[in-house]
Amino acid sequence: MKTPFFYNFFRSIILPLDEIDENVPKGARVVDLGCGEGVVAAYLSKTKGRTVIGVDLDKKRLPKPLQKNLQFVKSDIRTYSVKNFDAVILSDVLHHINFPDQKKILKNIAKNLKKGGTLTIKEIDTGEFVRSKLSRFWDFVLYPNDRICYWNAKKLRNLLSLLRFKVKIIRPCRFFPGSTTLFICKK
Ligand SMILES: C[S@@+](CC[C@H](N)C(=O)[O-])C[C@H]1O[C@@H](n2cnc3c(N)ncnc32)[C@H](O)[C@@H]1O
Repeated sequence: MKTPFFYNFFRSIILPLDEIDENVPKGARVVDLGCGEGVVAAYLSKTKGRTVIGVDLDKKRLPKPLQKNLQFVKSDIRTYSVKNFDAVILSDVLHHINFPDQKKILKNIAKNLKKGGTLTIKEIDTGEFVRSKLSRFWDFVLYPNDRICYWNAKKLRNLLSLLRFKVKIIRPCRFFPGSTTLFICKK
């Protein structure tokens, strides 16, 4: 899908980029799963000596990288291996995938991410009733054909804990009319 020209600017305003950045270590090898236009991947690659790979199924969305430490590959994150990465990002991706596959992806990350590695998930929380309905509206506008599968934050936290992650939840970007919930997880 080709996104409108203002999309990247809009994403860079509404995404909690500083909060994501704070939780990705210096010098980390990072994979941004379902990176889309690579707004998060590009941001993380600019500082702290990181190497970043963005992965997305939709080749048309992937940008041309301008730096050596930033690459993009077309692949399906349901089968992509996260072995050898220190940090994984899932920003507004999980809810575009059905629940059984979401669970498989999370189990795969829990199994293969390096010990001490970080997983940062940006998701919608159905527990935020009004905000999650507003998010559903935005998803309908941008992705009318997608089946959307949002989590309740408490249930997702439980699953991540069962997968042996230490989980912290924060809610940045309160000005945005939608649910912005960050799950900061450490293996
Ligand atoms: C809402 S966009 C989020 C893009 C980016 N992470 C961000 O926060 O700006 C969701 C992205 O997930 C990608 N996606 C959905 N299912 C995927 C899959 N199975 N494998 C790889 N990418 C997938 C879509 O192509 C789309 O680019």
